[in-house]
Amino acid sequence: MSPSQTSTAPTTALAVDYRQPNTDDGARLWEIASDSQVLDVNSSYSYVLWCHDFPTTSIVAEIDGTPVGFVTGYRRPSDPSTLMVWQVAVDDTYRGHRIAATMLHHLFDRAQRSGVVAMHTTISPDNVASQRLFASVAQARGLRFDRRDLFDAGAFPDAHEPEHLYMLEPDIPEI
Ligand SMILES: CC(C)(COP(=O)(O)OP(=O)(O)OC[C@H]1O[C@@H](n2cnc3c(N)ncnc32)[C@H](O)[C@@H]1OP(=O)(O)O)[C@@H](O)C(=O)NCCC(=O)NCCS
Repeated sequence: MSPSQTSTAPTTALAVDYRQPNTDDGARLWEIASDSQVLDVNSSYSYVLWCHDFPTTSIVAEIDGTPVGFVTGYRRPSDPSTLMVWQVAVDDTYRGHRIAATMLHHLFDRAQRSGVVAMHTTISPDNVASQRLFASVAQARGLRFDRRDLFDAGAFPDAHEPEHLYMLEPDIPEI
């Protein structure tokens, strides 16, 4: 590896617990999203409500009893076989330890047990870390990784990057 390349390989083994969120986690999720300085930060209420209403399609990574990462998701009402990932974030201190990838794998494993076959998310063109994260998960699971336009910048009332839809799907549709 050249000195200019970055590495996200873990330097130490972390004891991380993965679990469904509950409403008590909402405030911490909002804090992690705010601290990321990358994510759209929604109201604190939206994170509390999300934890209350969508715990089975969301996940928290916890170290020493404190959430350090989360994924929020939902099953598409028009296609419940697809898990739509809304936000993923890991506290800056703990990045590069495969926490995000592990959360997505746990979530996908859990969702597959109730009929989910595909995972979708939207990513802005400048978020290379997120693109690599989902590409890595797709590759590890032997899924196709496709992209298409979803929302262009004009869809948003404020200054906002376009959001492309990324799809992790099986090659052969399951019957
Ligand atoms: C994106 C983010 C969630 C990754 O978390 P993480 O726990 O450090 O990621 P992981 O260690 O699980 O890495 C998984 C894969 O993504 C790649 N990756 C992670 N961060 C990367 C970066 N900054 N640049 C390039 N690749 C990166 C890793 O190399 C790894 O790929 P590999 O399996 O091919 O080696 C984290 O950087 C973050 O919270 N960013 C701010 C919020 C955000 O952008 N969220 C995504 C949009 S919703």
